[in-house]
Amino acid sequence: MRTQVAIIGAGPSGLLLGQLLTRAGIDNIILERKSGDYVLGRIRAGVLEQGMVDMMVEAGVSERLKAEGLVHDGFALAFNGRRHRIDLHGLTGGKTVTVYGQTEVTRDLMDARADAGAVTIYEADDVRVEGFDGDHPKVTFVQNGIAQTLDCDFIAGCDGFHGICRQSVPQNSITEFERVYPFGWLGVLADVPPAAHELVYANDQRGFALCSMRSSTRSRYYVQVSLDERVEDWSDDRFYDELRRRLPQDVADAVVTGPSIEKSIAPLRSFVAEPMRFGRLFLAGDASHIVPPTGAKGLNLAASDIRYLFDALREHYTEKSNAGIDGYSHKALSRIWKAERFSWWMTSMLHRFPSQSPFEQRMQLAELDYVASSVAASTSVAENYVGLPY
Ligand code: APR
Ligand code: PHB
Repeated sequence: MRTQVAIIGAGPSGLLLGQLLTRAGIDNIILERKSGDYVLGRIRAGVLEQGMVDMMVEAGVSERLKAEGLVHDGFALAFNGRRHRIDLHGLTGGKTVTVYGQTEVTRDLMDARADAGAVTIYEADDVRVEGFDGDHPKVTFVQNGIAQTLDCDFIAGCDGFHGICRQSVPQNSITEFERVYPFGWLGVLADVPPAAHELVYANDQRGFALCSMRSSTRSRYYVQVSLDERVEDWSDDRFYDELRRRLPQDVADAVVTGPSIEKSIAPLRSFVAEPMRFGRLFLAGDASHIVPPTGAKGLNLAASDIRYLFDALREHYTEKSNAGIDGYSHKALSRIWKAERFSWWMTSMLHRFPSQSPFEQRMQLAELDYVASSVAASTSVAENYVGLPY
């Protein structure tokens, strides 16, 4: 088998890159370890920056997003018995975010890929990437028990945090930076109308809570929990009780309860691997960085990597220039580190840390009070939340 770009992983990164390449006439094959249904069953983030929405338009997959996505002009920070609205639209000269689940993004991209007749090999086992430091990279894998080889010009490592691409790079040529947070998020998805029209991020004595949504009839709620909590110990009733205790009274009163359709605990981590290019292998998305979900940046960072990587590959094939390829890692990382900073800051500002002293708690509240009382500070939060320019 041969293709121009071999893409490892059919998450949002791999599918978006594949769709953009296909539309630009650049041949690509996606190899995915799991089945398509498994990939669609993962419940993840749901807030899209304008830049990502624009890429979905460019990729020709925006019809349902435009019809069903909820445009949000602001969100709320709740702390110390009060609530402050960050007016995203007003503070950023008209920018907004769109609430649309990652599952839906993935489904739209998979459907478009199938319509275009582009090849995705699901349930590809034992995927290995080789020869990317020379001119003839290749990917080997096992499909239905048969060993296969895919020759290519480039390999896009879009295989997430636990993927093999980053692990295939010689250890002395990659540097990893990491912070693991001493808590997780217990999340519930339920077919009940959201408690508030906009997202509410709450800093409470009992820990962080977040009210989010997927649509006007589907809510997504989270509460901070310690890492030794087990999801089996959290009945729906216990979850809703804890959620309500951490929210401002009017929001708590508006929470409609209903059976959870998904409930899980996710750890929080900040992680960056540098660089993102190794000869003819590129890393993109979760394969090269992780953010804690507090700033809603994970999916959006995957999209911005793909923005730079797609432009670089298109330049290579259509303009015979390698400038984009040579600049990819530096360009992507400079945006990634700023989103890492924002996600770390939101996490630090809103959660209860086990080791936190009373002084540090006061610092958190003072910081939130400052954000709420200063247009400059609110503007900084808003411009990061809607997404820094590409
Ligand atoms: N071979 C083939 N595929 C693999 C391998 C492998 N060895 N390892 C992992 N994969 C696949 C996974 O099964 C997954 O479908 O790569 C895909 C990676 O997808 P994601 O983890 O969704 O990563 P990405 O596409 O970069 O999307 C980033 O997803 O994790 C969220 O918060 C994150 O929203 C962000 C977005
Ligand atoms: C979500 O809806 O899942 C969500 C929203 C905002 C976040 C994190 C998660 O910051």
